[in-house]
Amino acid sequence: MSAAVVPFNRLETGIGELLASLVGGRRDDRLHALRMAFERLTGCDQVLFAPSGQCAIARILLALPQPEVVMPAFMCFQVKRAVEIARKRIIYVDLAKHGVNATSAEYDSAAKPGRILLVPHVFGIPTDIERICELAKRRGCVVIEDAVPAFGGRRNGRLLGTFGDFGVFSFQQSKRLPAFRGAAIIVNNPGVTDIATLDASRVVPSHRALPLRELLMALAHNVATIPWIYRNLTLPLLPLRELLPKLSGRRLPPRPDSRPATSEDAPQVRASNREYTREIHPYQAELVLRLLGRFERIQAQIACLTTAYATAFRDTPIATFLPADCDPGGLMRFPIAFRGKDRAAVVAAARQRGVYLKVMWNRPLPDAVDLSRVPNAVQAAQDLVLLPLYSRLSVQTAERLAQSVIEIERGVPLKSRAAETCLDSGRAA
Ligand SMILES: Cc1ncc(COP(=O)(O)O)c(C=O)c1O
Repeated sequence: MSAAVVPFNRLETGIGELLASLVGGRRDDRLHALRMAFERLTGCDQVLFAPSGQCAIARILLALPQPEVVMPAFMCFQVKRAVEIARKRIIYVDLAKHGVNATSAEYDSAAKPGRILLVPHVFGIPTDIERICELAKRRGCVVIEDAVPAFGGRRNGRLLGTFGDFGVFSFQQSKRLPAFRGAAIIVNNPGVTDIATLDASRVVPSHRALPLRELLMALAHNVATIPWIYRNLTLPLLPLRELLPKLSGRRLPPRPDSRPATSEDAPQVRASNREYTREIHPYQAELVLRLLGRFERIQAQIACLTTAYATAFRDTPIATFLPADCDPGGLMRFPIAFRGKDRAAVVAAARQRGVYLKVMWNRPLPDAVDLSRVPNAVQAAQDLVLLPLYSRLSVQTAERLAQSVIEIERGVPLKSRAAETCLDSGRAA
């Protein structure tokens, strides 16, 4: 079988689209058009934009009086930070056993009256959101449905993000509708808070500007992930990415403290933090509109890739996480696990073949002392590995990648250095 060199992520927005969107992408009516598109898509007429998914979550929380937020112990740490910025107390729930999501069973004991339930569909795999919403209704809780990594996914035919009292969608660069950053909030239940209150709820002052630096980086990313360039230039240079901060003496920003926030120690948002200070620009709206125009095709390809991975791993010891009734159309990444094996050893063996397996969030969100209460989140943080899903990945390549992963899991000896490669080329979730 021939080698397949695969970047971990290729943007859904190509070079042509990035440049073409500059024409007409400066008109304010693009924001209006995007709002209309979201209204049609979600069937909800209360749509608001925010600088990012994390900022959207912080804004919703700031607009709500409830002081406590229930969220899974395993998800992206930017969300935890958003909750801390909003000065709410966090109550963590575990994931379902051998799952990537917290389900209604896990939320059950923590869903006390007056709490906010923050419910993500991790990696785009839907959780049982309708049951969680029923539970919330019975107990007097508010649900923020975090559909950031699940754009376009459905549960029993209904779009994810439209179940909770609020739905959050993201246009961050590694997501399915990449427009550098930005987010949409929908208010499904205006009885909880109205859109004007939400609009007035600001974390820090924000403004709008054409995201030129981000455009240049996206163009560079597109060039660097062109298959030939990727194999011959990007790949050999990638080790430099890890070396550069060491050589320059630059220290990576520390992960936020994992203590629960109190009003005294809530993190501050810096003016340079564009995730909170840059409102979405009409150019970004134009990019998202173009992607929406061909979203069905993107989604169809993601579904084919998902089927290819799921078929390849069936009857192998490699664990997959898709429930039987899962709509594959909203998946961001394909999570797998090598049960009973040391992930670090598998990842190292893969690297020897040139296969870079992506690992995310290698520790859960709660403090170390609280981890005994969330064993499944600990397991997920130790075990999970992500495979790429983007519409420019061909099914044949995904099949070859899956076969390579199976060989690595089996410990099949390396025959040739020309191996299959899957590399992280950006932030993902
Ligand atoms: C589940 C989830 N929610 C929210 C966010 C934050 O979204 P954004 O990157 O748009 O700030 C992420 C980030 O990856 C995420 O994975």
